[in-house]
Amino acid sequence: MNDLELYRIAEDARKNAYAPFSGFRVGAALLTEDGKVYTGVNVENSSYGATICAERTAFVKAISEGERSFTAIAISAGDVPSLPCGICRQFMYEFAPQIRIITGPIREDDPEGGLKVQSLEQLLPEGFSLNH
Ligand code: THU
Repeated sequence: MNDLELYRIAEDARKNAYAPFSGFRVGAALLTEDGKVYTGVNVENSSYGATICAERTAFVKAISEGERSFTAIAISAGDVPSLPCGICRQFMYEFAPQIRIITGPIREDDPEGGLKVQSLEQLLPEGFSLNH
């Protein structure tokens, strides 16, 4: 599974986003070490603070199925770039401090998609953990 394939899965998952309040729809695709993919979307709530982001939805689905090893997560917000929020960065740090984070949008003029790839270590230097 390459980065572009994973990103396209995130883009496709995005159709199921529940974002009636912000209108900002996000899809995520989380790749496990053994090649399985778990998708996630943002799920908003009338009580705004109860909203969960697409990245955490994907992680919660995977963790609750027993997965513990992750290599990459792709995040799509359609035509605009969207990086993980601070809560999601910390959430991911618990399970995958070295995960690769792939963000769009796809640049159609670039045969490889022009996606941005960063490590969580770049986005959350010196994250908090009780285990380290
Ligand atoms: N959102 C995500 O799904 N992921 C992020 O990393 C940033 C924000 C969602 C939450 C909310 O439903 C909407 O985007 C606007 O904040």
